[in-house]
Parts: sequence; structure tokens; C-alpha cells
Amino acid sequence: MNPSPATAAGPQTGPATRWDDDPVLTVEHLTMRFGGLVAVGDLSFNVGHGDITALIGPNGAGKTTVFNCVTGFYKPTEGRIVMRHGPGRQQQAVDAVTASGLRYKAANDGAVFLLERMPDYEITKSAKVARTFQNIRLFGGMTVLENLLVAQHNPLMIASGFTFGGIIGLPAYARAQGEAVDRAVYWMEHVNLLDRADDPAGDLPYGAQRRLEIARAMCTRPELLCLDEPAAGLNPRESAELNQLLQFIRSEGTSVLLIEHDMGVVMEISDHIIVLDYGIKISDGDPSFVKSDPKVIAAYLGVDDEAEIDVPEVRAEVAAVIHEAGSGAQAAGPTRPEGGRT
Ligand SMILES: Nc1ncnc2c1ncn2[C@@H]1O[C@H](COP(=O)(O)OP(=O)(O)OP(=O)(O)O)[C@@H](O)[C@H]1O
Ligand SMILES: [Mg+2]
Repeated sequence: MNPSPATAAGPQTGPATRWDDDPVLTVEHLTMRFGGLVAVGDLSFNVGHGDITALIGPNGAGKTTVFNCVTGFYKPTEGRIVMRHGPGRQQQAVDAVTASGLRYKAANDGAVFLLERMPDYEITKSAKVARTFQNIRLFGGMTVLENLLVAQHNPLMIASGFTFGGIIGLPAYARAQGEAVDRAVYWMEHVNLLDRADDPAGDLPYGAQRRLEIARAMCTRPELLCLDEPAAGLNPRESAELNQLLQFIRSEGTSVLLIEHDMGVVMEISDHIIVLDYGIKISDGDPSFVKSDPKVIAAYLGVDDEAEIDVPEVRAEVAAVIHEAGSGAQAAGPTRPEGGRT
């Protein structure tokens, strides 16, 4: 792998933007092959610090595969994935860690991490990237509170000195335990689950399980939260609450990378949208740029060539779909999953 720096914008992008100058995550020339299938091909994009960035595209476009590469579930076939703590591109530190063969490097105001070199648990723990899954993955037999405490296992182990200090009640452990419970309560309040704290997670209704997954991810104190179709299976009221929750998470200083089919959610809350089709980036810009991009219109309506997409009727149809989605209706895109798929 020999990625060239500062190329994440790619040829389909609009004018240079904030997320290119201050990216929390940069994906460069990412390729993921499964045998002969290229699920993601030479994909580059930036996720801006403090932004809600949406990754959208038709079914099978490669969105979850990108998440699996970013979060260490898959080792990319090619490419570099840079996570940054602290402001700016920190290009010198990025170049230095790339050349060094190491996984991360402290920089002036933070640190840079090369995620493709890191195992998944280190990506969560050190690079501070958390995720939720297209198919909910909770500990169904554990209570809501227990699910949120398990997510904070790392600071508790550190406080115990990796010994039985927790059992004998070391002060540092007791303090860390108190903080872990406080943090769990904080997020239970914000996802509206405080009154279900002692209920098994598996007994919660579907929408509540989705919120619990987000709370669990937030309990790891992520710099970047990756959400794979969080609105799938939600009713319109729950979907509106999710919008508010994601905006609150952004206001708390966590950047969000969101895979979503629900255009009502995407257009309302995203600062930046990246569109994939067949593993290739076809558009990258702010919501108004993307929704009027002919390539996006073609991908979502299944029009084959550029000549056809200039037909005024097609434009009118897409405008209507996007307008409808913006006013709370579901999905301008392909069939929206009910309950998520892998
Ligand atoms: N582990 C795997 N082995 C083989 N092929 C895979 C694997 N994971 C994904 N793929 C294939 O890669 C392509 C992209 O899949 P991916 O799940 O990333 O799409 P997606 O954009 O998330 O789609 P959806 O909107 O349906 O969730 C698909 O053709 C899929 O079958
Ligand atoms: Mg997917």
C-alpha cells in the first residue's frame, strides 16, 4: 500500500470543504475484495471533525463493508484509513507513522492512528472509534445497565490494576466504578431508558434496543461513532427522536458516520454525504450538492446512462422523492430493510 496523501476528495467532489481541512477520519484508496468480487473499489473520502457524515447508496453498494474495514472487522485488501485525535490534517504525523510501520503516533495536539494496522479491540479502545451493527448485537440476557457497564470494561480493568483489586475494593476501582455507573445513567437518560435499567435488554422493544446500542457505543467515549442503519425498523416518531439524539451526540463533540437508507434522516441532519454505488464513490458533498447530482439520481432510480438522466421527467420524479423524504416520509432509495440485514 502506498497511498498518496490529501487525495481523499476524489474526482467526483464539489469544491474544497471543511471536512477536507479538518478530518477526524480519512479513508484513502480503500479496496476490499472478496474473491473475484470488488465490494469496495479505490474509495477515498474524509469525515469532518464534529460533523454528521452520511454514507448512502443502494443495497449491496459496499457501505457495511466500509464500516467493517474502518472498525477492524475486515482487513482491507488495499488502502489507508487514518483516524485523528485533535484538529487539522496533521499530515507530518500521518506521513511519519505511515513510513514507520507503527500503528499510531502522538501529534502536536493529539494523535494519529492507522486503523488498517490495528485489531478491532484497539480501534475501539485507543483510536476511540465505536460502532453499532445493522443487525442489533446486544447481550440480550443482561440488563440495560449491565450492557452499559460491560462497555466500560477497559477503564474498570485499568483501575483494578488488572488484579483482583476490584474485588477487595481498591479506592481507584471504586471511583472508576462510580464513574462508569454515572456515565451509564447519563446515557440511559438521553436515550430514554432509565426506567428500563434493570430489564433484560432482550425484552426491550425493537426501537429501544436500537437506542441502547447507541448508548452502549457512547459509553466507550468515542471520538467517532459509526452507526449502521440506526433508523431501520423505527416508526416516524422514533425516527424523529433518533435525529435529535444524533444531533445531541454531535453537540457533545463526537463525530458521527452514519449509514442510512432513510432519506428523511439523512437530508435533515447530515452535514456531508458520500454516495456509493457498486463499491465506487459517485458523489461527495453537502446535502444540496448530492441531492441534485445526476449520478446520484441515476443510481437511485436505476437509470443506465447519462443521456437518460437529463430527461426532465426523471429529474422531476427525483425532486418529488427527495421532497417527500425531507418531509418525513421513508426512503428515496431502494427497499428499506425492516429490522436490518447483514
Ligand atoms: N464477508 C463477505 N464475503 C463475501 N462477500 C461479501 C462479504 N461482505 C459483503 N460482501 C459483498 O459485498 C457487497 C457489498 O456488501 P455490503 O454489505 O457492504 O453492502 P451494503 O451497502 O451495506 O448493502 P445493504 O444496504 O444491503 O446493507 C455485496 O455484494 C455483498 O454480498
Ligand atoms: Mg449494509
